[in-house]
Amino acid sequence: MADKLRVMITEEEIDKRVKEIADEINAEYGDQEVHLICVLRGGSFFMCELAKRITCPVTLDFIACSSYGNDTKSSGVVRIVKDLSDSIVDKNVIVIEDVVDTGRTLNYLLDMLWDRKPKTMKLCALLDKPSRRVVEVKTDYIGFTIPDEFVVGYGLDYAQRYRNLPYIAVIEPEAAK
Ligand code: IMP
Ligand code: MG
Repeated sequence: MADKLRVMITEEEIDKRVKEIADEINAEYGDQEVHLICVLRGGSFFMCELAKRITCPVTLDFIACSSYGNDTKSSGVVRIVKDLSDSIVDKNVIVIEDVVDTGRTLNYLLDMLWDRKPKTMKLCALLDKPSRRVVEVKTDYIGFTIPDEFVVGYGLDYAQRYRNLPYIAVIEPEAAK
């Protein structure tokens, strides 16, 4: 028996929106270099597609973190599993994330990154679930604002599966029934 998937955002809709966000970034930064930081693993597909459409000079780095505690009771303390390779001092950083949910991860991560003295730092997330927010997070570029539903695809997983789907789908896990 398989998990049930319902398409929420098609590949074509995502492509179109990614191009629009890249255009916004291109207009804003012009010839300035932008340093994209991908929050692994969920942000990887979005970052690649976005980076291909950015015309400013681009450099890339990756960070991976995991939340202490279990899913239902997140402490808001984040452990860095893989740190950045390069310094971000004086760079125009854009953090690329898959989804802003409660905001706990990004709140912690962005505070930590600000301490490393970037010149500027913006947050770009493919998805935003504002109704789930527990901690305030300032978002600069958002792909789609979605309701409180658990989604997979385009980097987002359920138990590490479905990240490779080229669209965003709501999942009703078989195990939950
Ligand atoms: P936050 O700290 O609650 O904002 O956690 C955000 C993280 O939870 C994201 O980076 C995802 O890894 C995960 N997450 C939140 N909502 C979803 C979802 O609908 N599908 C898959 N992962 C999600
Ligand atoms: Mg994530």
